[in-house]
Amino acid sequence: MSAFYREKVLSVQHWTDTLFSFRATRDAGFRFLNGQFAMIGLEVDGRPLMRAYSMASANHEEELEFFSIKVAHGPLTSRLQRIRQGDTILVGRKATGTLITDNLIPGERLLLLSTGTGLAPFASLIKDPEVYDRFERIVLVHGCRQVSELAYGEEVVTKLRDDELFGPLLADKLVYYPTVTREPFRNRGRITDLISSSQLFNDIGERPLDLETDRIMMCGSPAMLEELRQMFDGRGFAEGNHSAPGHYVIEKAFVER
Ligand code: A2P
Repeated sequence: MSAFYREKVLSVQHWTDTLFSFRATRDAGFRFLNGQFAMIGLEVDGRPLMRAYSMASANHEEELEFFSIKVAHGPLTSRLQRIRQGDTILVGRKATGTLITDNLIPGERLLLLSTGTGLAPFASLIKDPEVYDRFERIVLVHGCRQVSELAYGEEVVTKLRDDELFGPLLADKLVYYPTVTREPFRNRGRITDLISSSQLFNDIGERPLDLETDRIMMCGSPAMLEELRQMFDGRGFAEGNHSAPGHYVIEKAFVER
């Protein structure tokens, strides 16, 4: 048995010069938890060229979706950005990752903090009915340099709100907070600053950060993750993992440079 499933590309959407998303068929045997990642890639010169990608689709969906950066000289993404409908991609059989709800102590409010393509695992998690069972409120924060980089996330949230099944479920529960650092926008600033200043909570009209009730998942820029980790540790939050659930979990976005 090959280590990889061979899947067909169903559609590709380019969002900016540096971001695209695509959908592919999903083998019935490919199981994952929402928030997890797998190795995906292309066969190049007869050999698999693979990188870690979070599934942006939820595990109840028939198809797979991924959200990717384009790096001009990146070994994989320079090629992957040129895929078209009908092409074959490779998907590793095993999914893994720390951004799963079981790694968190039960709480009331779930903060999903992401930059760039770090949004992908949260695009999956916000489509998970169980997340809405476990938490009263889910706050999805997406930080980017430019407004155009928010487009994919905006579409995921809009589609979900318009969905017959999900719309009512998340109407009172999901708060979407996009923020931009390098041009004018309604929300501005780095996620670190928005949290330490409580601006985020003021803007969404909610209580400040609270160890008793807040649980956090983070995915994105390594520099941001390190600063957030220090900030949360300083406030008594503990990191969770597969052996011991905690107040927060971290995954770096899988960026090819
Ligand atoms: P900024 O524009 O102020 O650097 P990148 O494209 O470099 O991965 O950044 C994606 C987003 O993450 C940008 O909005 C960027 O803000 C922000 N960012 C980068 N480093 C940090 C950090 N250490 N703390 C918080 N946000 C950061």
